[in-house]
Amino acid sequence: MDISNLIKNRRSTFTSQLTGERIDDDVVWGLLENANWAPTHYRTEPWRFKVYSGGGLKRLLSALASLYKETAGEQFSQAKFDKYSIRHEQVSHAIVIILHKSGKPNLPVVEEVASVASAVQNLWLSVTATEDLGGYWSSGPLVYLPGFADFLELEENQECLGLYYLGKRKPDAVESKAERGSIKEKVTWITE
Ligand SMILES: Cc1cc2nc3c(=O)[nH]c(=O)nc-3n(C[C@H](O)[C@H](O)[C@H](O)COP(=O)(O)O)c2cc1C
Repeated sequence: MDISNLIKNRRSTFTSQLTGERIDDDVVWGLLENANWAPTHYRTEPWRFKVYSGGGLKRLLSALASLYKETAGEQFSQAKFDKYSIRHEQVSHAIVIILHKSGKPNLPVVEEVASVASAVQNLWLSVTATEDLGGYWSSGPLVYLPGFADFLELEENQECLGLYYLGKRKPDAVESKAERGSIKEKVTWITE
């Protein structure tokens, strides 16, 4: 696939569109290897990943379900809660995306966040380049909770930025709508 097609064909494939079939860990390592080549100011390489599969994935989803129940209050929806209990039948691996702040002087944290996002884009484009894989970056309020950081056993200088849910796409998978406003509305071009 040429680079423009690869970029434009990258889609969010939500968990309902995944088969639950297990992907070889070696394939996941290949995706992570590509993530590792993201740009990084001062070469701090601030991306960290925790990969959950099998029983680990079930524990992760159950932790998210509990946090949802504890914090949803009046907004609690049984249907949303139940989604966590079937997700391990859809997803092969959940890759937790972690910002590892170097604390380097003169390096604003936003630059390390940018690096982590670039790493995720590398991973995501690598998923698109396969024949049968799909996934998406999932965040939402739960991933930022201290209770989730505790579950993940994050270090003091680390923050969770979400999860990349990865799986095999159903043959007839429906993906998020490919739509963008024109680039012309987002660019100011200065020539003098
Ligand atoms: C940082 C980040 C967090 C996201 N979190 C969610 C999420 O919690 N739920 C969701 O449905 N999509 C989430 N997405 C995916 C977006 O919904 C998706 O990228 C957008 O709809 C455009 O679709 P596309 O990825 O197929 O181009 C997230 C994307 C990014 C970059």
